[in-house]
Amino acid sequence: MKYAVIGNPIAHSLSPIMHNANFDALNIPSSYEAINIPEDQFHLIKKIIDEKALSGFNVTIPHKENILPYLDEIDEQSKTVGAVNTVKIVNDKWIGYNTDGMGYVTGLKQVYPDLENAYILILGAGGASKGIANELVKHVHSKLTIANRTLQRFENWDLDVNQITLKEAEKALDEFDIVINTTPAGMHENKEVVINLDNLDSRTLVSDIVYVPFKTPILEIAEAKGNPIHNGLDMFVYQGAESFKIWTNELPQIQIMKEAVLKHL
Ligand code: ATR
Repeated sequence: MKYAVIGNPIAHSLSPIMHNANFDALNIPSSYEAINIPEDQFHLIKKIIDEKALSGFNVTIPHKENILPYLDEIDEQSKTVGAVNTVKIVNDKWIGYNTDGMGYVTGLKQVYPDLENAYILILGAGGASKGIANELVKHVHSKLTIANRTLQRFENWDLDVNQITLKEAEKALDEFDIVINTTPAGMHENKEVVINLDNLDSRTLVSDIVYVPFKTPILEIAEAKGNPIHNGLDMFVYQGAESFKIWTNELPQIQIMKEAVLKHL
């Protein structure tokens, strides 16, 4: 079987390394490649994928929404989030899933097992935030709090969460057990931190969905304050693991997938 990830840019994606390591470990004679599809070529997606005879593929930036019109079916999570990161092809039928939220929460549970009793603050209210919030509500007793620069972003949210501004979150920071940054601030060369951490309780876990850099500025600051931190590597590994399960109905070798990625970071 053949699989791939589509995106743009995609050359530096670690998905092929991660999935091929897993196929090798399980002796599955499948392969996984990266396919670059620029925005202006996206209308050719059916042709590109058909020619490669793929059984499934992952979708990453900037195509997680672009893919929607090409799907024959879409699962509930993808519908709510409005984005798809996994497509399974069955008899030429394209079925869309979104494993990002579940991937994140599965990873978070490893480092914070008592998740159901946690008070959680999510920074950012975009697609990534929505996917994670949508999954977290299934695991957590108390209402989630989502903070964004402006409250307009919440207009298309129908999840029952507390909606506050980043400024309000700054003042109330000591009330939370876990703070999750889902904004792209801190990614790559961007050294921005979206919130002042002065009011952070010393036990609060600070988590980021980014893993390049391995420690985003918000994690650097939290770590310097002595707080536990958690980056986006687990999310990446578990979203891939969930995609693999959807495609094959088999159990992935999580540790091998993670080590393969770590080796190349
Ligand atoms: P994604 O799918 O990665 O979540 P998105 O849907 O574009 O991307 O959402 C990005 C989120 O990060 C938004 O909540 C955005 O806040 P605004 O609604 O105020 O734009 C937030 N964000 C991006 N850059 C930010 C920054 N420099 N400071 C604070 N929030 C930021």
